[in-house]
Amino acid sequence: MNIKIALLPGDGIGPEVVAQAVKCLQAVEETFAHQFTYTTELIGATAIYQSGVALPKETIELCNNSDAVIFGAIGLPEFDDNPDAKIRPEDALFQLRKELGVFANIRPVAVFPTLLDKSPLKESVLRGTDFVIYRELTGGVYNGEHTLVEDGSEASDIATYSESQITRVAHLAFKAAKKRRKKVTLVDKSNVLETSRLWRRVVKRISESYPDVELECIYLHNSIMQMILKPSRFDVILAPNLFGDIISDEASVIGGSIGLLPSASIGDGIAMFEPIHGSYPQAQGKDIANPIATILSAAMLLQHFGLEEESRAVVSAVNKSLKSNIVTPDINPKSKYGTNDVGDFIASNIVDTDESLNMNYENIGLGKSTII
Ligand code: IPM
Ligand code: MG
Repeated sequence: MNIKIALLPGDGIGPEVVAQAVKCLQAVEETFAHQFTYTTELIGATAIYQSGVALPKETIELCNNSDAVIFGAIGLPEFDDNPDAKIRPEDALFQLRKELGVFANIRPVAVFPTLLDKSPLKESVLRGTDFVIYRELTGGVYNGEHTLVEDGSEASDIATYSESQITRVAHLAFKAAKKRRKKVTLVDKSNVLETSRLWRRVVKRISESYPDVELECIYLHNSIMQMILKPSRFDVILAPNLFGDIISDEASVIGGSIGLLPSASIGDGIAMFEPIHGSYPQAQGKDIANPIATILSAAMLLQHFGLEEESRAVVSAVNKSLKSNIVTPDINPKSKYGTNDVGDFIASNIVDTDESLNMNYENIGLGKSTII
């Protein structure tokens, strides 16, 4: 298969982790006789410094002419620490999501058995954790009007949701649940927010077309508690934009490191794959960033194109690195391996063998979640 991939490494550790994902995809090309092309463009703070805008038109053009996008990370402290900045790296991501028409951000969360002791949660609480978050990506406060009164003493952010925005992502969540453990949990704040009440009404109605899938609706604050108390109770979590962003970061630490979780953003057109972590500027250039989240995002890309065996080969190689303790310092502080070593090890262990089907290739959810 030929796949044209746009690479948008972005800021901080973005370029380092994207480079490792490319190594792995190149190993997949060689092993399974595919042909992928990679073209890199600017985005985020790096783009602002080099071209004056966060999302240059060349970047949009490249994405529109590609089959898929791999995105690294965005944001730098000089922008975070300056509330008066006129142009912000993150704006590029919001604009790109709009350009690509991606409306569902899919974040599988599971626990690697080899890493049970790295989690802040007890093993007994952690066992059986395997859920996937479907985060709506186009609405809510992210896309509403943001205002600041002239004297700077008052601000507002408007959250808006339409029935159609809720419907399309909800259907994806129910379809995914049908193939998994048949449960959807809607996370909302319907005791306070009108948008949440709309979510509840629409999602309840949609659930009637999926009689074999159980729907539970819980408040955001409760979901946050439950994720710590009993994460294994979740199967598919459906959440509006902002709540989905918040709970997915919380969920990421359950597995032992935020550096492990991949994501896919899908819609009507081309899809985008990215680690859920941020740009971690403190680690930039130090060869310590964990590349696994981005490598697993590449595995989701392969799965998106129906390359199941190839995707499993990447996941197996990741598992091998974890089992062999070839990991970055976020997982093992004494590790002598860096970002590049881990990327090299995983790439060189991508093999075309049915072995991966027979072994218990750990429960990261990729094989079970539906991303297409
Ligand atoms: C994410 C990120 C972004 C978001 C930031 C970088 C604006 O946290 O993709 O989860 O909030 O959507
Ligand atoms: Mg986030």
